[in-house]
This record gives sequence, structure tokens and C-alpha cells, in this order.
Amino acid sequence: MHYAFFGSPVSTMASVSTLRLLANLISQAVDTIEGVYATANATPPPLNKPWDPKDPSEALGQDPAVMEAKTKLVAAAAQLVATARDPISTLLSISDGVPLLACLRTASELNVVEILREAGPQGLHVREIASPSKVNPDLLARMLRFLATNHIFHEVAPDVFANNRISSSLDKGKPSAVLFDKPEERLTGTAAAAALVEMFGDEIIKSFAQLTETVLDPNGEQSPLKRALGVPSSGAALQLDDASRKQTTRESVQHRDAQMYLNQDLQFSNYDSEGFNWSQLPSGGILVDVGSGMGSNSLTIARKYPALRVVNQDFGPVLEKAKAHWQESFPEHFEKNLVEFQTHDFFLPQPVKGADAFLLRHITHDWSDEKTIQILQRLCDAAKPTTHLVLIEHIVPSVAEEPASIKAIPGAIRPTAPAPLLPNFGAASSAIYFRDMMMHNLGGKERTIANFVDVFDKAGWKLVRIHRIPGIEQCHIVGVPA
Ligand SMILES: C[S@@+](CC[C@H](N)C(=O)[O-])C[C@H]1O[C@@H](n2cnc3c(N)ncnc32)[C@H](O)[C@@H]1O
Repeated sequence: MHYAFFGSPVSTMASVSTLRLLANLISQAVDTIEGVYATANATPPPLNKPWDPKDPSEALGQDPAVMEAKTKLVAAAAQLVATARDPISTLLSISDGVPLLACLRTASELNVVEILREAGPQGLHVREIASPSKVNPDLLARMLRFLATNHIFHEVAPDVFANNRISSSLDKGKPSAVLFDKPEERLTGTAAAAALVEMFGDEIIKSFAQLTETVLDPNGEQSPLKRALGVPSSGAALQLDDASRKQTTRESVQHRDAQMYLNQDLQFSNYDSEGFNWSQLPSGGILVDVGSGMGSNSLTIARKYPALRVVNQDFGPVLEKAKAHWQESFPEHFEKNLVEFQTHDFFLPQPVKGADAFLLRHITHDWSDEKTIQILQRLCDAAKPTTHLVLIEHIVPSVAEEPASIKAIPGAIRPTAPAPLLPNFGAASSAIYFRDMMMHNLGGKERTIANFVDVFDKAGWKLVRIHRIPGIEQCHIVGVPA
């Protein structure tokens, strides 16, 4: 297909091919990125050098103009490849994803990145990389070569590998000797990437292997993860006990610890207190954090709006930790008895009647529509006309433009990509769709705006506003009793 310079598809001499338009978008993005770096007298980091997050030039990668250019570049480059490449090659290349992830997980468990960090830029022969874990060096070389071909690690000479920018981002930051000495603690207190890769390469691969079977099963109530682990009941897989996980996955508890660490990281950002205007709640008003976990979200809000009274609701053992967290992090509120810790199952009638706001962060994405409606209905039953429901969740964008009914919701409109890119920026926004599939495998769902409107409606709420917070993927999705 050909496009006129600024118009609809045409087939005249003055037209520009889609390939050229995509190449132009890439070129413009590169100009922007180079421009920002040149102004700072720096150069964009090369692929074959290890990633150094403390290098001042790394901060330029977070510059808003660079971020926007990178999004366009990723979207355009992926679309260019998809457009130019033979379609069967493209389809078959999709199957690279699973073995690549499996190889990456193996490399992480064998502490390859840390061994190579200690070896330095000249790299190390695969015999020595394999030696501490006593694995087959020939097989390890084949795995590392597959990864290096996909830009993860650098094969500096035959069978000699070094870290590159991408592989080094998996660094657990500990000496390799320590990692080999205490393998069960290798992920504790480390950066998130290794923990996620190891979890994705284990549970997530196993659960995705059951996706088709689950879809085809006429009685298929089980989540793919539960199917993979042979656990009979339906519902949120995150409620699986550790013993079930251990049946078929290695060190899942360790993975979950690492994930908690990741979430903790997120909780220290201030986005909970932005978005929805918490100052509109009355002084002395009650905020109920439903499924509060550590209560970090309500804590961030209460710190900014200390006139609020907070009720954190969760299961008992979780609340014990939440209490300690609040006592340590916000003793003023705790000592004034402005925060309560209430054991409560959110499927049962809500004990706090007439709260000013119910906050649910990362709760509904763990559950099916049916269960989510039950949770929200319990809150609606206990609400007063002025109660606000605030969900903090990701929103899955439609690939196509949203219909007018959705665009009419305040805050629903999001930036769309210039043609010929897909309106949702294609590959640059693939992570949210992966996340949705992952949540499905765990028994939950990330939702589109239309999905949120639907579950709100069925539970007695009206979705009135969406708050998007710059630089943050999660949105505040606000409802009032219908
Ligand atoms: C994904 S975590 C989110 C925690 C917190 N809102 C946050 O954003 O960090 C889900 C929380 O829901 C709690 N939870 C799960 N099922 C629950 C139920 N039936 N009743 C109350 N809490 C529940 C879990 O214990 C966990 O703390």
C-alpha cells in the first residue's frame, strides 16, 4: 500500500510506500534522540557495553522527548520488520520467544551475568562460565549463542562471551561466589529483572503451555497456571499456597519474594496520592483500602491528606505486617488512632458502612469479571451516595480507536500514534497485552475501559472518570453509586 504524503492511500507517482513512511519515523526518532544527547555532550549508550544505571547519560534515556522518540522508534521498527519480512518467517520467528526466555532463565540461575561481570569486557570462555555450576559447556555455548544472536550477551570470539547492555541488566549485584554459596538467596534483595525473568521462565512458561487446552476445555474454569500445577479449584491463582506451586516450579516462593520486592519499589512512588483528587474527601472522612496488603497505598495518601481516617482491610497475617509498616513509617497517624487494621474477606458484606472512599489497588486484576462484580457489589451495598470507588489498575487500550461512548468518559482519551503506526503504538505497548495474558493465566484479567464500565455497571457503580498520571502506567478509575 502507498500513502500520499499527508493523506489517505493513493497509487500515484507522488506516493510514499509504507516502508518509507516507517523508515522516516525511525529516522525522525533517531534525530530526536541524538539531538538530546548532543545537547548534553553525550552519546546514546552502545549495545555492547554493560549497562551502568549510574552513568549520567542513562538519565537522558528518561528525558520525555527521548522517551517519546523511543516509543515511536520501537513501534515503527517492529512494524517495518513485520511489513517487510516474509509472513511465514515472521510467524515462525514468534516461536523464538519461549526458548529465548528458557535460555535466559537458565543463564540467570547459572549466574552467567555475574561471572561475566567479574571477567570484564574481554569476556570468558564458556568452559569457565560453565565450571562453577558443572553444567555442559557445549550446551551452555549453544544457549548463549542463541541469546547473543538476539542481542542478549556478546560473543566476542567463538565460545567466548561477554556481557552487553541487555544481559548486564539482569545482574543480581552480588559476587558470583556468594550466589553459588547460597543459591536459595540469590534473588533476595536484588534488582527486579533477574527475579522476573526467572519467574517468567518458570511459572509463566508452564502456564502458557496450558493456555490452548484451557480455552478448548468446555468446563474450563481453571486458570492455566492451576491447570499446569494440577490444582483443582478455580479463582485467583495468586491465592495458591506455596506447596502447590512447589510441586512443579522451582523456588516459586523465592520468585514471589522477589515480586513482593518489586511491588514494594512501586509503592514508594507517589502515584497513589495523585490522580483522584483525595482532597475532595471531607476532613475526618474514611478511606477504606480494600485488600490493602502492606497498606502502603493508603499510607501514601494519608501522609499527603492527614485529615483522613484509614481502614486497611486484608487477611490477618498480612495485616500484622501492615501494622508494623505503618507504625514504623507513619507513627503520627498510628498513635492518633487514625488508622485501623481490619481482618475482612472482600467477598463478604463490607463492615464499614458509608465510607467516603473505597480504594482497591491491584485487586480486581486478580479476579474474573464474575468475582470482580461480587467484590464491587459488596462495596456498593455499603456505600452512601457520595462514596467514591477508586480502582488503581492498568487499562488495556484498544488497538483501534475507541468508540465515542468511551471517549466521552472524562480522562478516557489517550494519545494515539501517527499513521501508518497502529493507533496503540503496536509493539511499543505490547507489555500491557502480555500482562493481560499473564493475568489470565493466573486467573485474572487486565481490563479495557469498556470492561471496567461493564463490571462497574453490573455491580451498581457508574464509571465517572479516569485519571492518567504522566509517566505511570496505572490509572485511577473512579466510580460513584449509580
Ligand atoms: C496484589 S495484592 C495488592 C495489595 C495492595 N492493594 C497493593 O496494591 O500493594 C492483593 C491483596 O489482596 C488480598 N486479598 C486476596 N484475597 C482477599 C480477600 N478475599 N479478602 C481480602 N483481601 C484479599 C491479598 O492478601 C493481598 O494483600
